[in-house]
Amino acid sequence: MNFKVKIGKDSILKQKTSCIILPVFSESRLSEPLLELDRICKGIISYHKKSKHLSSDEGKTFFLSNISELKADNILFVGCGQKDNFGPDVFQKSLSSALQVLIDLNIPNATSFLSFFINNSISTYYASRFSVEIAMSKLYKFDELKSNKTKTNNLKELSIVFPKSIKIKEANAGIKDGSAIGKGMNLARDLGNRPPNICTPSHLFSEAKKIQKTYKNIKVKSLSKIEMKKLGMGAFLSVTQGASEPPKFIIIEYSGSKKNDRPIVLCGKGITFDTGGISLKPPSAMDEMKFDMCGAASVMGVISSVGELQLPINLIALIPACENMPGSSATRPGDIVKTMSGKTVEILNTDAEGRLILCDAITYGLKYKPKLLIDVATLTGACLLALGNFYSGLFSNDELLAKGLLEAGERSRDFVWRLPVHDIHRKALKSNFADFANIGGREAGASVAAAYLQQFAENTSWAHLDIAGSAWLSKANKGSTGRPVQLLVDFLLNI
Ligand code: BES
Ligand code: MN
Ligand code: ZN
Repeated sequence: MNFKVKIGKDSILKQKTSCIILPVFSESRLSEPLLELDRICKGIISYHKKSKHLSSDEGKTFFLSNISELKADNILFVGCGQKDNFGPDVFQKSLSSALQVLIDLNIPNATSFLSFFINNSISTYYASRFSVEIAMSKLYKFDELKSNKTKTNNLKELSIVFPKSIKIKEANAGIKDGSAIGKGMNLARDLGNRPPNICTPSHLFSEAKKIQKTYKNIKVKSLSKIEMKKLGMGAFLSVTQGASEPPKFIIIEYSGSKKNDRPIVLCGKGITFDTGGISLKPPSAMDEMKFDMCGAASVMGVISSVGELQLPINLIALIPACENMPGSSATRPGDIVKTMSGKTVEILNTDAEGRLILCDAITYGLKYKPKLLIDVATLTGACLLALGNFYSGLFSNDELLAKGLLEAGERSRDFVWRLPVHDIHRKALKSNFADFANIGGREAGASVAAAYLQQFAENTSWAHLDIAGSAWLSKANKGSTGRPVQLLVDFLLNI
């Protein structure tokens, strides 16, 4: 899809477009350029507003055709509530529902005036970037495994209109960044949505190779099982033991800065299916454990967005990928393994496998002497219960890094909520037989998991994102969300 910036209200009368998208606010007084349109079209808006065809209810739409005074073929009105409250939430809701109508009606291109009316709760840059992100996610579909493909989207171009006063550079920057983020999100969503018999560790590796092909400063490699053994990745290897599907430790290196510039390391949990292992999960909704590689998918999305934008940083993505299966060679509860760090772990529950694969990835990541290290994982049901799907959980040993991520969450509207990680949580991991266990008690499960991981980051500036709630939706809208690609790319753009 193509995106364009347009400036000035002229577009409303003079633009040749299939459809103009106009907001309807609850205030009875019309403001420019709606007022002018009303005047030229002999009270078209006031009439429909009075006769209640036009609703200001957020997201309610009304479609009009054949308006002789206009060069555009159609107008789509969309309710946007009170003008003063026209912030990012309503903007997203109303633009989404307008785009849905355009898609349903097979409209090929449109010119949106929603961005013309934004107040100072949303900047030019973000209005244009969100428009792109919203449109790309509206157009996203996952039908590669359906024999009858859902119909192709005809919507090919969206123009975004701003008042004359804005800086066009900012609007264009929003389109550029939004397109790159949208691409990364779509990759993350595709990988997440693919079934676990297709999206295996080897599949993730071949998808990483595709990223390498696209961007000349991205290099991809993987460690063989022999190398993993040599490195002493006993925790990671213990998780893959019950599976016949071979594991992969995928390394993606992006170099956008000087060689000696210390990199940022992202580690993504890549469990392509989590049965729980011998500590088998109950059957209900177990299919959703195909999404247990969404951390991996999101860091792959991020690195491809960064490749697209050619950001001036060095970035490494580390992806331990395997299945967590029961089987005669699977890890038993009570087994003790040695992690790459040298610390020993008593595996009391084989379903707490994410931390086992991530701890070795974090230790491996320290080799790069990173500026900072962020791991991303669908780690705990406890985080899902605590925060739901709106916020991802954030844990960190570094105030500045936590602040940076919280702010990126607010800006990108891919929200994170900081939860505590304290010595008290680490103490819950006490084991009588090894250095520590891989689980604590029932309390503060998300923080205990974070405390487990924190030990491996040592003195490195570290953050952990628990995306158990935010990475996918369940029930009728079951599917991957592509989060937290927006958050992480926003963070990297502002570093
Ligand atoms: N992948 C799950 C976490 C999860 C569960 C995410 C449900 C989203 C929805 C993870 O591997 C897991 O099983 N965690 C256990 C840890 C427990 C055994 C300490 C959990 O949260 O129940
Ligand atoms: Mn598990
Ligand atoms: Zn898991």
